[in-house]
Amino acid sequence: MLRGKKIVLGVTGSIAAYKAAVLLRLLVKEGAEVQVVMTPSAKEFITPLTLSTLSGRPVLCDFFNASDGAWHSHVELGLWADAMVIAPATASTLGKMANGIADNLLVTSYLSMKAPVFVAPAMDLDMYAHPSTQRSIEVLKSYGNVIIEAAQGELASHLNGKGRMEEPENIVGQLKDFFFESRELRGKKVLVTAGPTYEKIDPVRFIGNYSSGKMGFAIAEECAKRGADVTLVAGPVALKTPHPSIKRVDVESAAEMYEASVSEFPSCDVAVLSAAVADYRPAVQASEKIKRASQGMTIELEANNDIAAALGRMKEPSQRLVGFALETNNGEFHAREKLSKKNLDFIVLNSLEDKGAGFAYDTNKVSIIDKEGKTDYPLKSKSDVAKDIVSHISKLLMLLLLMLLPFTASAEGEELNATVTLNASKVQGSNTEVFDQLQEALVEFVNNRKWTSNTYEEEERIACNFSFVVNSYANDGSFDCSLMVQATRPVYGSSYLSTIFKYEDKSIKFKYQPFDRLEFIEDNLDNNLTAVIAFYVYAIIGMDMDTMGELGGSEWLNKALTIANNAQNLGDAGWRAGSSNNNRYSIIDDYMNGAMEPVRKLMYKYHRLGLDTMYKNADNGRKAITESFDLLKKAYEDRPMAYFTKLLTEYKVDEIVNVYSKCTPEEKKTVVDILSNINPSLSSEWEKITKNNN
Ligand code: CTP
Repeated sequence: MLRGKKIVLGVTGSIAAYKAAVLLRLLVKEGAEVQVVMTPSAKEFITPLTLSTLSGRPVLCDFFNASDGAWHSHVELGLWADAMVIAPATASTLGKMANGIADNLLVTSYLSMKAPVFVAPAMDLDMYAHPSTQRSIEVLKSYGNVIIEAAQGELASHLNGKGRMEEPENIVGQLKDFFFESRELRGKKVLVTAGPTYEKIDPVRFIGNYSSGKMGFAIAEECAKRGADVTLVAGPVALKTPHPSIKRVDVESAAEMYEASVSEFPSCDVAVLSAAVADYRPAVQASEKIKRASQGMTIELEANNDIAAALGRMKEPSQRLVGFALETNNGEFHAREKLSKKNLDFIVLNSLEDKGAGFAYDTNKVSIIDKEGKTDYPLKSKSDVAKDIVSHISKLLMLLLLMLLPFTASAEGEELNATVTLNASKVQGSNTEVFDQLQEALVEFVNNRKWTSNTYEEEERIACNFSFVVNSYANDGSFDCSLMVQATRPVYGSSYLSTIFKYEDKSIKFKYQPFDRLEFIEDNLDNNLTAVIAFYVYAIIGMDMDTMGELGGSEWLNKALTIANNAQNLGDAGWRAGSSNNNRYSIIDDYMNGAMEPVRKLMYKYHRLGLDTMYKNADNGRKAITESFDLLKKAYEDRPMAYFTKLLTEYKVDEIVNVYSKCTPEEKKTVVDILSNINPSLSSEWEKITKNNN
């Protein structure tokens, strides 16, 4: 979802401009607000009317409105947008952007843009391949713009090659990734060393190794994707910088890599040392090319500094250090030796004995070894191995954070005593780590957030349970879960618990990746999962407060109602107003309806005046309970379609049967009549009340 994201869509004069309409439709469908800006020549390819109709806003093209002289402020657009997408971008516009030629509103908007800019070029293959275009693209990348590379395929010229604008679906995908990919390393600084080092023998010869740098570059990319500020110290490799936000320092020798790493490390949170650093360099580097001699020759070598060991000595308690070991024999033994000698937090072992692993391959097979143990991973692409390694780093940083946390956590949430269970047995065979992580994150979210300004005593905390069952899960983190929510409160003077709310939510769709933080911002419901949980928490607190004082829960129930109203655009059927009388929306809409006020009063009468008293003074208690069912009857008569009335009789069925079995025959008759009317499907249960003779 791009709900609420403000996007400036720049369209330029290319045959692919027709695809801008599809892109615009998809963005709007995702919930984005889109302002289209066209270059004058784009109007030759697609009409402003089409784009203004699809976006629901006038299209901007000129600096001024010709009819009333109003200025179209590119400065304001630059401040308004969360992202700018230029698709399609012609060679001419790329050139203007790269060189600041601001002769149209699109380029002035680009130059004023404060938000990230995504550029999707489209042109004929020769134009795309021309050094002039490629130079513009490189310049834009160096400005930090994201270039969505043109795809291979048939072009408007009927030639086949690279130059087709990327498909609108993929452009939207990249935007969604940008906004929502898990950014757990935001604010963290990471140093990565990668590639080989070359140790000069003379001006034309060196001692080097086969390292391609691919593994280190993939790690740098993964860290940058997760929001880290990455410095990549690269030895001589033939690789492009994989992410626009990465700061790259190119070095050649081990000595240069040492200098760069030692100067960067003090400001970093983590260093990942994946470079294959030469242990020795020629003691003398000849300044002239060494000539062939008739005899053999010997090169005397001297030791290079060990970068990992040096950083290990510099390491502060708040920093983490990760090394690599490439071994041909006794892998684990040597790796463990390096782990302790270099003061690393963990070491990634790849063994040259494994097929497809190591230098130059695009795949790798690693084990992660730390003081606690060893985790073996299967053969994977280097980018997937990078994900595993970076997840491990994230975990370390999270643990570091938790070590600092207990000082602040004690002041937090105390309303709920919640348990959360997540049952993933329906989706066998998946990676289970994500389920454990989600469960942990939910427990923390529900129990540690302060939901009210009230103070709760330990015994006042509301016992509740959130039981999730995973119906489906995909590797991109998409979940579909059912959820059973149940809240109970103790009946004073007894060991008896009364259910104040219970409901089975059949389907909640959301995205979650390990280590995502669950956050909830009242007026910005970005995340369906946290919106759903916050909704139930407020509803439960509100209903619980209703049991403590007549209509006492309004403040929190209104919060739940606001969430349900605002969540209509989240696209989850459970929020849809009017589509069903059995979803989240209808529950709170029923409960807060004026005609249902008797039910809210029932909560108080039944619990506080009825149940609580019954354990001290049976007669008074029973009387209050019977009266509370008169209130239920009234609410039912005033709003017979309300689902909540029926739901209440369902989730309280055992409790009602238990309590009323203790009543007089007249009391029994009154409640059985009411209950049979409201919920005839449970008539056999209600009959038990009449039959039981307690
Ligand atoms: N390393 C380093 N600087 C060096 C040598 C190694 O930073 N001069 C780092 C590597 O980047 C890697 C780890 O140390 O993360 C282990 O590298 P490796 O070459 O396996 O270790 P050495 O200590 O050189 O041991 P060996 O005798 O096996 O070569």
